[in-house]
Amino acid sequence: MEFSIKSGSPEKQRTACVVIGVFEPRKLSIPAEQIDRASNGYLGDIMRRGDMDGKLGRTLLLHNVPNTLGDRILLVGLGREKDFHEKEYRKAISSTITALNDTGAADASFYLTEVPLKKKTTAWKIEQAVIGILDNLYRFDECKSKIEEPKRSLKRIILSVPRRNELETGEAAMRQGEAIGKGVNLARDLGNRPGNICTPTHLAETAQKLAQSLPLKVTVLGRNDMEMLKMGALLSVARGSRQEPKLITLEYQGSNADQKPIVLVGKGVTFDSGGISIKPGEAMDEMKFDMCGAAAVLGTLQAVAELKLPVNVVGVIPATENLPDGEASKPGDIVTSLSGKTIEILNTDAEGRLILCDALTYSARFMPDTIIDLATLTGACVIALGHVASALYSNNEALSKELNQAAEAAMDLVWPMPLWDEYQDQLKSNFADMANIGGRPAGSVTAACFLSRYTEEMNWAHLDIAGTAWKSGPQKGATGRPVPLLMEFILKRASENRDAY
Ligand code: BES
Ligand code: MN
Ligand code: ZN
Repeated sequence: MEFSIKSGSPEKQRTACVVIGVFEPRKLSIPAEQIDRASNGYLGDIMRRGDMDGKLGRTLLLHNVPNTLGDRILLVGLGREKDFHEKEYRKAISSTITALNDTGAADASFYLTEVPLKKKTTAWKIEQAVIGILDNLYRFDECKSKIEEPKRSLKRIILSVPRRNELETGEAAMRQGEAIGKGVNLARDLGNRPGNICTPTHLAETAQKLAQSLPLKVTVLGRNDMEMLKMGALLSVARGSRQEPKLITLEYQGSNADQKPIVLVGKGVTFDSGGISIKPGEAMDEMKFDMCGAAAVLGTLQAVAELKLPVNVVGVIPATENLPDGEASKPGDIVTSLSGKTIEILNTDAEGRLILCDALTYSARFMPDTIIDLATLTGACVIALGHVASALYSNNEALSKELNQAAEAAMDLVWPMPLWDEYQDQLKSNFADMANIGGRPAGSVTAACFLSRYTEEMNWAHLDIAGTAWKSGPQKGATGRPVPLLMEFILKRASENRDAY
């Protein structure tokens, strides 16, 4: 899809389709009024006849509207004007794409970006429109032998800004939206790829490809390197797999070399069978999504590098499979992590924290200003927060607030969870420094408590994305979350850097 920014009257656009909003009940938005005036009340007539009430998500396609230069006009319902907020805006955009896909229009001019939204700038509306459009156009059909849908005609989308002096900021917002949308879609592709294709090696190769075309430095460690470093926890998870584990790092330097980076650590279990503590068969296929944290790191680094943001960011991905085998780790096994702390593996299905603890210890070498890990860590998180919010844990109040604000701005929600000492007791082991599970109560919290033992010296946050990284059911597929949140967070940090110079 090609995007561009333009300013001008809707009736004068020579495009295949002009997209304008109408509120409920039957109230024209400003661009719609302009068309109505030019066409001597054509739209007003249609509304009066009851063909378009303005309900959110309704659409009506009109052809050859008098005195307009476009081939078509698409009316899009926006709901009640006083209820028109971010979510409604996003819904209007997605209904537009659905409606346009049913037409033969090759290009379309969007005037929805001119509808006022409380506290939101034109730039925000443009950026979110682009992200929403790319999200809606996404399909994963690389594993189908025939592609089902006919090829769509829509090739070009023109987003309108109300004033000429907004063209430049509009274009910057558009480029930002494109980079974020592409990052989200990279994360979705990796998540959706089956476990026999998306292996630890595939993740490493993806990182290497990114580093070929973008200003990124890639490093990939294999089993031998991990043995030399003594990453006993990560290696213990990989024991049962024939796929070599990888520790992937991507470094982006967009600011002074002495500025401490934001480090993103993503869980990359490319298939989680549970290991010897094997999972029940139902929906086990969804454990191919257990690398969505890693996918979000790759998607975010791609977007950051494409936008050449003035920040330093490092991505660290521990990648492995978790499978049963004669060589696999067993319940009761005790391993020594990179930090030197010993862990009693009471359940081999609590593998995420084992690979993350070594990756977190390893990440200290980058001297992080902030370290954020992303992991599809616990089923308990899905029970606690469902599919709406990711769980947010942090040892730093200011960082927690900053992430929460970024999440709201990006509409990629998080909810703060406690890391109180009282929960740490559940990780006691009779035989090692700690156990890798804390029992059923507060399962998401005790998993975070486990990680907190490896990040005491850092400004750290942990996002449990088990409920948000993919959808189950008929819409089964990766969502690309939390790339939008991370990008919002990093963009804010980048703009603070820019202001400092
Ligand atoms: N990858 C899973 C977590 C998961 C399960 C995410 C289901 C989404 C849906 C993780 O490795 C895991 O298996 N966690 C266990 C931990 C338990 C053994 C303490 C879990 O949540 O059951
Ligand atoms: Mn598991
Ligand atoms: Zn897992």
